[in-house]
Amino acid sequence: MTAPKPRVVLGVSAGIAAYKVCELLRRLTESGHDVHVVPTADALRFVGEPTWAALSGNPVSTQVWDGVSEVPHVRLGQHADLVFVAPATADMLARAAHGLAGDLLTNTLLTARCPVVFAPAMHTEMWEHPATQANVATLRARGSIVVEPASGRLTGKDTGPGRLPDPAELFEVARAVLARGGVDHDLAGRHVVVSAGGTREALDPVRFLGNRSSGLQGYALARTAVARGARVTLVSANVALPDPAGATVVRVESAEQMRAAVLAAARPAGAAEADAVVMAAAVADFRPADYRDSKIKKSPGTGPEPIRLVQNPDILAELGARPRGDQVVVGFAAETDDVLANGRAKLARKGADLLVVNQVGADLTFGRPDNAAVVLAAEGPPTEIPRGPKEALADTVWDLVAARLKPPAVPLPATT
Ligand code: CTP
Repeated sequence: MTAPKPRVVLGVSAGIAAYKVCELLRRLTESGHDVHVVPTADALRFVGEPTWAALSGNPVSTQVWDGVSEVPHVRLGQHADLVFVAPATADMLARAAHGLAGDLLTNTLLTARCPVVFAPAMHTEMWEHPATQANVATLRARGSIVVEPASGRLTGKDTGPGRLPDPAELFEVARAVLARGGVDHDLAGRHVVVSAGGTREALDPVRFLGNRSSGLQGYALARTAVARGARVTLVSANVALPDPAGATVVRVESAEQMRAAVLAAARPAGAAEADAVVMAAAVADFRPADYRDSKIKKSPGTGPEPIRLVQNPDILAELGARPRGDQVVVGFAAETDDVLANGRAKLARKGADLLVVNQVGADLTFGRPDNAAVVLAAEGPPTEIPRGPKEALADTVWDLVAARLKPPAVPLPATT
């Protein structure tokens, strides 16, 4: 017997980004989800009913008055495994936050007992307006995930926060939330900082010393944290991957730039310190002592000049050593030999709460979609993570972090 398809209600409100949601729908249906699209009446001005019906293979309606005998306004929400609203306009967020129920989508939101995700898209002014921000806070406090919009080109000539994230990345959010099977968003209301990728240490304008890190593990950590409700700052060094939906991405190149960005995000001026910092990046231990302003040339007759190196700051050790409140600090250790012994020594040396130790070699870890590790804890037993997708490892890391987080000073309201 085949397992029933996960049921997704895809709510679409009236924003021009509706056209991008066709791609999200396609990805959901092609990966075996049963999707019912519920647009608002005005959303159909942007993308028409035949497109949604053809791509989903299911009938589409906007009103509670269609097929009344089947009580669609209750049935859709009650039977859904996930309700995903994209784009969520300012008006939709306001109606959802206030529990209005004038059409099929808002009725569905009130009857859903499954996870609900909103992916807002609007002009920056509307997104930043205190009314919208208050509505977002209300929805998050009730347990919905509201994905931070991306920054970039908006409709017309303006740019700023308000863009709908890439549909492929929204699909990853949907997948990660469904994979948790309705478990509470245990990182809701938390701010986490993740570093990813590998730093580059410039030698001259065209050359650098770098490493093989792909950024896949750090990006998986960022994605899974978004799906568990966290606000995520992703400090990314030289990664060729799309921005994870909902994460604020800070791009850096060198270890010194990474240090500045991570320390600033971990303890932002005038704001509370981040709840957790996970250093998944491969930070170069050394950098060239002298940066040459012009390209180093071959000189005939003499061999190449040696490259003198100096040590870079150790960001993880700095996070571990400085006084902190309840912040949980997590490091990664790449080891080729004596994996556990080296890992234990590193955990103590760097003052982290957790250290994810994996064995690296020519064909292990770097650039691969899967990973295996053992997580060592400053207090408590180690946790073995068998080889599996980097998302699964990321989720185990967040389980261990969540277990160490102190309850917030102002308790979060219970989720529905
Ligand atoms: N790290 C850091 N700053 C550095 C070097 C490493 O913050 N300058 C962090 C990495 O992000 C990772 C952890 O420290 O979380 C361990 O990195 P690793 O390269 O395994 O350890 P090293 O300190 O470089 O130790 P060694 O090379 O001697 O094994």
